[in-house]
Amino acid sequence: MKKPKLSPSLMCIDFAKIEQTLRIFEENGIDYLHIDIMDGEFVPNYALGINFCDQIRKLTKIPLDIHLMINRPDLKLDCFNIQPNEFVSVHWESTPHVQRTLAAIRAEGAKAMLAINPATPTEVIKYLLQDIDGILVMTVNPGFAGQPLVPAMLQKIRDTRNLLEGTGHTDVEIEVDGNVSFENAKLMREAGATMFVGGSSSIFFTQLPLSSNIQKMNAIIGK
Ligand code: DX5
Ligand code: ZN
Repeated sequence: MKKPKLSPSLMCIDFAKIEQTLRIFEENGIDYLHIDIMDGEFVPNYALGINFCDQIRKLTKIPLDIHLMINRPDLKLDCFNIQPNEFVSVHWESTPHVQRTLAAIRAEGAKAMLAINPATPTEVIKYLLQDIDGILVMTVNPGFAGQPLVPAMLQKIRDTRNLLEGTGHTDVEIEVDGNVSFENAKLMREAGATMFVGGSSSIFFTQLPLSSNIQKMNAIIGK
């Protein structure tokens, strides 16, 4: 199984402190920066944008973990200036051409991730195991920060890890995204998750300093 990685969700960032926050991320060994892109159709919200990705790339060397919550990402990948060391997640529910979209991400030298909504069975990856570097298991319904975990998702993470182990794909990441709180992260790690999207309920938890939240999460996920 891959070593654990922490990916703070930048839609939760305090925009007045972006540079300061990125420096703290660098000092604390953050692995990736989770960038939620929303089109107001696939999900009923708008979040970060294409220019935001380019701006962040100018401010830090921490690679991006781009989460495309948009319809027909296959028609729009070129907009995102995908870089070789980045993760890019596309939703199984967002295009009839999933395999082709994953291959297009890999053609850019990036890591191809298949995102699945809570109601989507993990078995949809069965014929895509050669095409994915990871599966992003949405642990809330996508679109908004601050939502509660969908309880059945812990079993879904276990089922996903069992499916990957059972087919010899132990190196495929399981990324979890949504209410990855300090308490839930422990359960998710035990269930087999390897990449953790830290949002309002952990990394950006306002009751503690940012560096303390990061160190606390690193300890919980086994970094
Ligand atoms: C939700 C986004 C998540 C969200 C996580 O659609 O994909 O990345 O920002 O925020 P919390 O941790 O508050 O659920
Ligand atoms: Zn996300």
